[in-house]
Formats: sequence, structure tokens, C-alpha cells
Amino acid sequence: MNKTKAQKRIEKLRVLINKYRYNYHVLDKSIMSEASADSLKKELADLENLYPELITPDSPTQRVSGAVLKQFTSVKHQTQMLSLNDVFSVSEISDWITRSKKLLNISKDPELFLDIKMDGLACSLIYVDGILVQGVTRGDGYQGEDVTNNIKTIEAIPLNIRGNQKYSFQSQGRVEIRGEIVMFKKDFIALNEERKREGLKLFANPRNTAAGTIRQLDSKLVAKRKLHFIAYDLIDPQKILKTNFEVYKALAEIGFRVNNFYQKVTKLVQVEDFLKTWDKKREQLPFNSDGIVLKINNREDFSSLGIVGKAPRGAVAYKFSAEQSTTRILDIFVSIGRTGLATPVAILKPVQIAGSLVQMATLHNEQEIQKKDIRINDTVIVHKAGDIIPEVVKPLKELRDGSEKVFRMPKLCPICHKPLSKTNLKDIGLRCQNSNCPSRIYKQIIHFGSKEALDIEGLGEKNVIALVDNGLINDQADLYKIKKKDLIKLDRFGEISSEKLINNIIQKKEPLLRDFIYGLGILHVGSKTALDLARHFNTLDNLKKATEQELENIEGIGKVVAESLIEWFNNPANQVLLKKFEDLGLKPQAYRDANLSTTSKITNKKFVISGTLNSMTREEAIDKIIALGGEFGQSVSRSTDYIVLGNNPGKSKIAKARQLDIKIIDEQKFLSFLI
Ligand code: IVH
Repeated sequence: MNKTKAQKRIEKLRVLINKYRYNYHVLDKSIMSEASADSLKKELADLENLYPELITPDSPTQRVSGAVLKQFTSVKHQTQMLSLNDVFSVSEISDWITRSKKLLNISKDPELFLDIKMDGLACSLIYVDGILVQGVTRGDGYQGEDVTNNIKTIEAIPLNIRGNQKYSFQSQGRVEIRGEIVMFKKDFIALNEERKREGLKLFANPRNTAAGTIRQLDSKLVAKRKLHFIAYDLIDPQKILKTNFEVYKALAEIGFRVNNFYQKVTKLVQVEDFLKTWDKKREQLPFNSDGIVLKINNREDFSSLGIVGKAPRGAVAYKFSAEQSTTRILDIFVSIGRTGLATPVAILKPVQIAGSLVQMATLHNEQEIQKKDIRINDTVIVHKAGDIIPEVVKPLKELRDGSEKVFRMPKLCPICHKPLSKTNLKDIGLRCQNSNCPSRIYKQIIHFGSKEALDIEGLGEKNVIALVDNGLINDQADLYKIKKKDLIKLDRFGEISSEKLINNIIQKKEPLLRDFIYGLGILHVGSKTALDLARHFNTLDNLKKATEQELENIEGIGKVVAESLIEWFNNPANQVLLKKFEDLGLKPQAYRDANLSTTSKITNKKFVISGTLNSMTREEAIDKIIALGGEFGQSVSRSTDYIVLGNNPGKSKIAKARQLDIKIIDEQKFLSFLI
């Protein structure tokens, strides 16, 4: 190939390789296989070998430079790389806003910009006339190390930002992009697994691994580790960008990956919402996060607030509370659940964990207590993640002083004083076998009214206990008998709240069959089994008549569940309960009637969702599919009718759907099915 032709081909190859890189490493999308991209890179390298004078610093071949450095050179930052002051509560955030308003001399709350705080290492990228010329670590904030060769191996970092020339800083002069170098959790796990296989020492966490990797003198080693760069700041000398919100938009437009969860807000409640959401969801992020960054959105205001020491006044980092903490077990009591299960629960010295005050933790059963050797008065490690009930991880035996007491399960139910025993020999836990035990009654009624069952608003724990203790109700069916004149006599109820509760109960006189079955609180019958039963039997009468064999033949229902159902329906007390429901006019809707009146597009169709949806969470989408009589599957198979593609869908799922000729629909189409 002659030089002119080679040059044309080289240019085309660079554009296409860059397009692949941007899609894959910044947008998480794939436009061709890795092997195809590698073959294009090979062709480009061959052509550049032939005509070395055609090599440019931003060519994709320049990502790994061969030379091994002896040491890094030190570079002075033109603009200081700052740290952030930490805050730990909403009230501290509120104080920071008040302080900022005072300094800015404004009365209205300033607009704030929120983003996830990534747990990696800060890095500054310098582009001159659109070309990446240097990458520098934070160092002490004033001076960092030149890690250009290493950061060039990070595919999420563009080697040039000339792009579509929307902003002048893309092509003229110097611009600095700042962000965090992170290693994704999945890559960290894979790396450690590989090291384990090779008998190498394991890395402690993704941040240390990323930091250690960036300080490798041989960039070839860096290229092997999968690092990412996520941008959070842009220093444009001309100050074209007025807000941090605009900065993020610009960063994305010129080819950088940013966290797409960023938000601008004006109210403290919105801040609180953001913190709570991410405290719960942080597990789902691809990288570790230890908090939220809050900045004054307006860049001029941000600068005018100035810097104190190493941190700007215009930003703070809210730190998530840890998921673990230590505290003392003050006592252990036994809680009786709706099926009679006796669960030992630790009463803890209250402690703040993962954003909430923890005062109790489940100890599961006596065996668990013995296995972990947990004693009353022990100092223990308590763990809480997301919405999960807190758990005692282990006692700190070193801190024992002799005051600790071994706990034994009582022989009698602490509530009704009838014996606790195992229902089956194989059972681990003890149960109160008395179906009239008040604790079981409270919990059954609370369960019946809960969101996943009949969803009766106002049937929380305190109201239910008041209704039972004052003799207004003794079981779930009694709810339909409550009279306003009786309710109003209770301390907890007034004219309006009485009417409201009665109304809420009456409104649920024709519940969905699945909700009703689940609401009965039959041992081992969760909401998924309840749905399977409703779908199979269509009416409650059919279910009542089912034989054990017939039940076991239903997919997903095993022997234990079938036995539990038969036992429940054979129990005379339960037969009385069902008769009582009937007499009081409660009639669950037949499964098919309920679903015919809704939609036909989803009924009996099996869906698989790949990627995240914009309009709802995965759980909400599954609920909607099931509520409309559809089915949800985790993986694509011949029986799948539709695969719904959200953001970042799995490549293998799409390939399988294509191979099996399954309809692929986008979120918009899926939403149209739900109407
Ligand atoms: S903004 C004025 N945004 O946290 C300082 N920093 O403790 C601008 N970090 O050194 C920082 N995620 O390396 C910002 N979304 C994010 C961040 C973030 C992580 C790091 C950053 C900084 C440190 C401050």
C-alpha cells in the first residue's frame, strides 16, 4: 500500500477503533466483538510500522508505551487538587448550607450538585489543543507524579477530545479533566481469583489495587489490569461552564465517562432522599463508594467561597455510615412469629448503623447462638446491609469480664405459656403450637394487612395490638366485622381515622386470589407460591379441594409446601376461619377473571429483562408483569416470549434471544404493554 492510501486507511481505522473504545469503555456498549477490534488494532499497528512517520500521539497504538520507567517525575499542579471535608449527618449538611448562604450573602438556599463519591484515586488529565499530554496523580494536592504512560493504558480515557468541536476548549489551549481512577468490584474479584490460582498474595481492596497499579513503573503491567476513569471536574480557563451540572454534561459530550446518577437539587429533603437511596443501593454500583459529594452548583459561587487548608468551602463529602459496628447485648428475648416460630432476638445498646438506629438483632435459633457462643452482656459485632434485619456477626470474647450469661431457649412460649416444641423432628427451630397464642394472632393479622398481602393501610403493629387487646378482633376475618362505634372508643382512633380504617378494610373485600392466599400466612407459602397456586387453581374452592399429589405436580411446589397446605386446609380452626370470611362477604377474585379485566398482552407471556430500566426498578417491573398475569424468567429459553432491553443489556442474553428468535423489545414497547 502506498503512503497516501495507508494514511487514509490509518485515519479510518483510528476513527473506528476509537468509536469501539468509547462505546465499550465509556458507554458500556459493544459495537463489535473484542476480537474484531483487536484485529483492527493489529492492522493499524502494522501500517504504522510500515510508515512510522504517520504515528500520532493520540493513535490507539500509543496506549502502551514500551519503556519501563526508573521512577516517576514530580509535577506541580497548576490548580491545587483539593480534598473534601467530611460530614456525617443531614444536620451537618444543613449547617454547611447555612454557612455558605451567609458567606455568599444570599437568602435563598443555593442549588446543590450531588454525585456518588468513588473510592479510588484522584487523577488529573491534561489536554493541550485537544490531545492528552499528561496524567498526574493527586500527590499532596500541590504536586503529584507523572503517570502519563500508565493512564494512557486506561481505555476509558480518550487520547484526544477534539470530537465535534462543541466547546472551544476541545481544540484550543490547555484543559484539565479531573476524576477518579477505580477498579470495578467484579474485576477486583476476578483478579484476586486469578492470583489465588497462581499462588500469589491477594490484594486487600479495589482502591489499594488501583493505587498500586498506577504506581507500577512498567505500563505493560498496568494495561493488564482493568482500570477505569470516571470524571468529575473540568478546569476550563475561559470559564465557559457556569455550573457543575453543565460540567458533567460537557464531560460526557467530549467523551468521558461520568456517573449518570448526578443530580442538581434545591431542597434539603431532596438531598436526604439522594443519600438514603444511595446508602441502600450502593452495593449495586460497579465500584466501591463511601459517600456522596455535595457541591454548590454555581461555579462562581463555589470559587468565591474559597479554600480552607486543603478543602474548598463550597463542597463537602457525606460519608455513609458503616454497615458494621460494635455494641452490647443487653438481653435476649424470644419473639413468636405468625407461624409460631420462636426466634431469639438480641436487645442491643442502641447503635447507629448504615443510616439507622439499630436496637435489636435476630439471633435465628439456639443452635446459632451456641455455634457463635453469643452471651448476654457480650460486646458483639453487628452487621446491617440495606433493608436486611440486623444480625450479630460474632462476640468479641477478648472483652468478656465474667458478667456474661449463657442464654437457653425457654421451654414455654413467653406469651401464652404453652410448651414450645419442634413441629417436625428435622426442624431446627422451636414453635409455639398454640394457634390461639396472642402473639401469633397479632402477627397473622399484621401479615394479612401487609403490603404484599391485602395491603390494608392502617393495620400496623400498634393498631392491630390495640384491636386484639380490646377484644374487637380475634382473627383476620374479624376485621370485616369492626364497627365504627366500637373503634372510636379506643384511644388510638378518632372519628376520621376510624372511618378511614373501616373503609380501607371494606375496599379489600374482593382481593386478588394470590394476595389472599399469601395473606393467610400458611407455613412455607410465600408470594411466589401463592401466585403459582392462584394461577393453577383459579379459585379458592378449587385450591381447598386439591390433593397432595395434585399440589406436588405444580412446578415450583415441592413436598414440604404441599404437606403444609394440606395440613392447613385440614385444620378445623382454619376451616372455621375460611367459612367466617365467606359469611362476612369476603370473596377473592378468581385468578382468570381478575386478569382478563386487565390486559391480554402480558397474560401468560414470559418475560426476561436485561439491563436496567429508566422508568422503574427491576423489582417493580417484575411485580407489574406478574400482576398482569405474565411470567418472569431469569434467563432466556425457548419458552421466553419477550426479552426487554434496558440500559447496558447483557450481550449473551441478546445473542441467545436472537438465536432462539425471541421477540426483543425496548422499554417504550414494554411500557405500552402495561397500559
Ligand atoms: S469532586 C473540590 N466528585 O474524593 C474537590 N470528588 O475527598 C472536587 N472523589 O480527591 C472533588 N468521587 O478524588 C468529587 N464524584 C466525586 C468524587 C470525588 C471521589 C474523591 C476525589 C477527591 C476526594 C475528596
